[in-house]
Amino acid sequence: MSAKKWRCTVCNYIHTGETPPDKCPVCGVGPEKFVLVTEETVDEARKRELQNICFGISYGLYVICSKDGAKFNGQTANSLFQITSDPIQVAIGINKNNLTHDYIKKSGVFTASILSQENHDLVKHFGYQSGKEVDKMKGIKFKLGEKTGVPYIQKTLSYLECEVDWEKSVDVGTHTLYVARVIGADKLEQGEPMTYAYYRATR
Ligand SMILES: Cc1cc2nc3c(=O)[nH]c(=O)nc-3n(C[C@H](O)[C@H](O)[C@H](O)COP(=O)(O)O)c2cc1C
Repeated sequence: MSAKKWRCTVCNYIHTGETPPDKCPVCGVGPEKFVLVTEETVDEARKRELQNICFGISYGLYVICSKDGAKFNGQTANSLFQITSDPIQVAIGINKNNLTHDYIKKSGVFTASILSQENHDLVKHFGYQSGKEVDKMKGIKFKLGEKTGVPYIQKTLSYLECEVDWEKSVDVGTHTLYVARVIGADKLEQGEPMTYAYYRATR
């Protein structure tokens, strides 16, 4: 009979034996943090391992806002990157379940407010709740972009106004990769950009 395998749910260390170890040799947690590895959970563990490795990819954090007529909404996103500088084009990966996704699809425009290390509250406000349930713009200080009429958030570093290029945008399963041209931008506050890693370490 083959020996049992136990996976540490904190660091994914695998221990072989009849029972879990008293202490994880990698991260130090006790036996209660170990789960028995079955055929099914090997796949799960591998998926988790890949996800952990992907945490090594660096990102900034942004609030992406868009509109549907006179209605406004915004969401937190890490998946924004600049693709070209002439013309300036960016891409954002937005989940199809998000209200912001629908607003961008309808209006073809969005803003990206670039967050600073002081903006933890904005990350949570726009990232942990949906505009489908609450009016996230209520109580938030914002102005409307001149080119797009879409809100950008005050007390952030700067903002971009973007127009979607439908030919270049791609359906990538759960998300749409919106490729867009930057048609306006301005600086707002001084500060250090918030990275995803900094947010995770300090939230
Ligand atoms: C740190 C952080 C990063 C996020 N990055 C993304 C992202 O890149 N793309 C995305 O679709 N959702 C992302 N989200 C999740 C959305 O912000 C979240 O689902 C939000 O509630 C959607 O709001 P909406 O339905 O009002 O548009 C992120 C959330 C957090 C907290």
